[in-house]
Amino acid sequence: MVQHQRAVPIHGLMAEFDNPTALVEAADQARRQGYTVMDAYSPFPIEEVNDALGLKPNRLPLIVLLGGIFGGLGGYGLEYWTQVIAWPMNIGGRPFHSWPHFIPVTFECTVLGASIAAFLGMLALNGLPQPYHPVFNVPAFDRASRDRFFIGCRQDMHDAPRYEPLEASSFFTDTSSARTLVANTVSRNPLADSDELLYTGKINGQLANQFPMAVTAAVLQRGQERYNIFCSPCHGRTGEGNGIVVERGMRKPPSFMEDRLRNAAAGYFFDVMTHGFGAMQDYASQISVEDRWAIVAYERALQFSQHAAINDVPDDKRADLDRPEAR
Ligand code: HEC
Repeated sequence: MVQHQRAVPIHGLMAEFDNPTALVEAADQARRQGYTVMDAYSPFPIEEVNDALGLKPNRLPLIVLLGGIFGGLGGYGLEYWTQVIAWPMNIGGRPFHSWPHFIPVTFECTVLGASIAAFLGMLALNGLPQPYHPVFNVPAFDRASRDRFFIGCRQDMHDAPRYEPLEASSFFTDTSSARTLVANTVSRNPLADSDELLYTGKINGQLANQFPMAVTAAVLQRGQERYNIFCSPCHGRTGEGNGIVVERGMRKPPSFMEDRLRNAAAGYFFDVMTHGFGAMQDYASQISVEDRWAIVAYERALQFSQHAAINDVPDDKRADLDRPEAR
């Protein structure tokens, strides 16, 4: 049987140098290659390495400033409170709020506040003390505090170097980072390409006023059901734009009874559902293509219902017209 070695996850790559110039140069190169998670280790501070690593200025100066301001205000406030509010004493006729003699305390407290903020802020920002770090696994790393210079780098996937749209590429010979489709590429949605009316509501790019399927009673019923679920909360059961959501203060949609929408092509309603319209979001992901068409058919029925003559209603149904209004 084969003995498997336990896989040790690799933390990153580390390089060792014997002089600071080589370290700075290597850091600079690595950054240009797209390595963003990088750190340099040296026995003494090297100014240039900050730029080479692409380190951004940190917030420590701001923390120190705030510490100083709070310290100063605290010191002055303490003086003021004791001398003016808590124990006002007349000493040689001096005014209670005699600011010149508050200055030494204020000064000292400013320095104190700033130094405490600098100390704690530094620890908070650099994450020290750090009893363990993967770089300690490299035996030679001992010399990082004496006479050797190290860079460790890691490539985080969430931080991978990538092209901005339309950026030039040095990798592809035609210098274009956006690639054209490979010859004979097949569309992922061949159906959408094959039936323009069904999938876009258009014929030759123009909104079409016809249905891609026969409008049967079953289609209308399905449309009514879907309409009442998805559209009526805003558009109302009759399509007047007075749904319950609108009554609670949301934007009122136009009534489907408007002449403009009565004359709109059937494909237009399909298009509004597919792509949304103004304040209304699209329903392409919630409602299937067939159901969208069924809703269009039902909307047509709603429009007709509000503009029908009494003769359009079968004799035996006319009594129903006096029933209370539906919502
Ligand atoms: C959340 C509320 C809401 C829902 C749900 C909703 N709509 Fe709308 N709809 C609106 C609003 C608001 C407008 C007006 C948008 C504007 O003018 O910016 C609108 C406009 C429209 C228009 C008119 C476009 C025009 O030219 O004026 C149509 C058609 C339409 N909706 C169809 C539908 C259909 C079909 C459904 C169901 C699949 C639906 N809406 C669901 C809120 C809604």
